Amino acid sequence: MPATADPSRPLVIAIDGPAASGKSSTAKRVAAALGIRHVDSGALYRAATAAMLRLVPDETTWTEAAVLAAAQAVTLEPVDGTFRPLLDGAAAEAELRGVAVTSRVSVAARMPGVRAWANAMIRSAAAAHPVVVDGRDMGSVVFPEAAVKVFLVADPQERARRRLLERHGREPSPAEVAAEVAELVRRDVADAAQTIEAPGAVRIDTTGLTPEGQVERIVALARGVDRS
Ligand code: CDP
Ligand code: CDP
Repeated sequence: MPATADPSRPLVIAIDGPAASGKSSTAKRVAAALGIRHVDSGALYRAATAAMLRLVPDETTWTEAAVLAAAQAVTLEPVDGTFRPLLDGAAAEAELRGVAVTSRVSVAARMPGVRAWANAMIRSAAAAHPVVVDGRDMGSVVFPEAAVKVFLVADPQERARRRLLERHGREPSPAEVAAEVAELVRRDVADAAQTIEAPGAVRIDTTGLTPEGQVERIVALARGVDRS
């Protein structure tokens, strides 16, 4: 039976899960297939972290007030069907995805005021248009009314292999995979409190799936939503 959604609100499809489970690339493709927009909530936490890191490199001294003040440099720009965070009005994609930000982002993401800031930006991006949003708590905390909620998981070895393949453009060695697994598991632990699987979410293990397979599955779930 199709899920029902409130037709007075724009459609929200929420895709959550741990690092490198496939959320952002899947969300972007689902949004393109449905002709709607993609919002990457993790990119906002990365942008706030990068803004703070430019001012204060030692994250052990960061306070919520200082991160929130630094985050005022972040804006969201709609581009190519997604929203790209800008820092002081300029794109900073490599900085946002780099090791310095990735290894510190959980510190900023644990701060309640930073979460409220990110959630307000995400809700405002989703207010006027149907969207596919991805993150850790989109279906549980930010959009509990989302018409479709998916929680992606994948084996840590496979998540590490995918991240490295994406980063280096070649199959990683077993030693590289082992080091990346340790980094992913460290971040899983650091993010545990803010990674909340929504009750009723459809859990998809992507370990043995192709990107096309998981996209088709979520597109089918979205097309099954009864908005009449
Ligand atoms: O792509 P990956 O899963 O590695 O990371 P991301 O989605 O870009 O998210 C970066 C970080 O932002 C995560 O490690 C979390 O600390 C934080 N995050 C969060 O707390 N809540 C979200 N909804 C999304 C991301
Ligand atoms: O957003 P998140 O960190 O959860 O993962 P991602 O950046 O979307 O995906 C990490 C990498 O896994 C990307 O290069 C995807 O193309 C790849 N991948 C996937 O998402 N799903 C598969 N079934 C196979 C590979």
